[in-house]
Amino acid sequence: MLARQITKAVIPAAGLGTRFLPATKASPKEMLPLVDKPLIQYVVEEAVSAGITHIIIITGRGKRAIEDHFDISFELEESLKQKGKEALGQDLRKISEMADFCYVRQSEARGLGHAILCAKNLIGDEPFAVLLGDDIIDHQTSALQQMAEIYERNQAPLIGVQRVPASDVHHYGILDSESALDGLYKINGMVEKPSLKEAPSDLAVIGRYILIPEIFELLEKTVPGKGNEIQLTDALKELAKIRNMYGYVIQGNRYDAGDKLGFLKATVRMGLKNKDLGEEFKTYLKSLSL
Ligand code: UTP
Repeated sequence: MLARQITKAVIPAAGLGTRFLPATKASPKEMLPLVDKPLIQYVVEEAVSAGITHIIIITGRGKRAIEDHFDISFELEESLKQKGKEALGQDLRKISEMADFCYVRQSEARGLGHAILCAKNLIGDEPFAVLLGDDIIDHQTSALQQMAEIYERNQAPLIGVQRVPASDVHHYGILDSESALDGLYKINGMVEKPSLKEAPSDLAVIGRYILIPEIFELLEKTVPGKGNEIQLTDALKELAKIRNMYGYVIQGNRYDAGDKLGFLKATVRMGLKNKDLGEEFKTYLKSLSL
């Protein structure tokens, strides 16, 4: 019997970030800062708020900065202490203490499905969360916390979705589903990046999932597609055939911060929310004659 509570999360962060070149030529896109924290720290904080204690980050070439960020920085902390900035040093220490972090290297960017498969041995026989490292969702109750509460009641795999305008369905995986209890949608299938005519709904898959270990067997059987990539969607479609699986409409503002415009919007949002800078930033934005 699977555990009722999820304690492990996988954060795939091995993608090439081509939409954000040249910024991502030599640094990971997950380390781009929103105000003063890298994107991936927001995602880790979200996971921790949902009760996650073990975080498995899938990395690749050029992603060393992610490991350094969640590690202790002894020299920096010491030097801050000597400069009388001990509190700042303690804040840095807290970043490495948020959870147990481990890293698996995906030697080639062979798709999101392949990235998740890399975590198989570390997950073992437990349900687990997947959070995409560049998807930022802002809400009082974090997106994963909302989903974890549902999982604890339902014990069924869960996919985070949001409604998107008709003009955007071709950018997303779209659910083919029927309304079920508790505001959930029972998933019958999914269509990846459909045209408006082919789209079975306006429920778009965004970067939050609660999955069960069976997904690994299905990923292993998934035939690689374009670019030798293993698509998570293909394995999820198979899972929906053998298990009840649900879509949940996540509450909150979601930003695809791996996209330049999404990143700018997220920066404005987080800038306005920042307790030290928010007011001044708002005054500045209002002063712009747009
Ligand atoms: P994206 O498609 O958003 O990321 O994948 P990307 O490939 O880095 O970005 P672009 O399209 O080239 O700009 C969704 C998530 O899956 C991870 C990415 O790091 C991102 O968090 N991913 C993707 C992997 O870990 N490995 C892969 O092979 C592909």
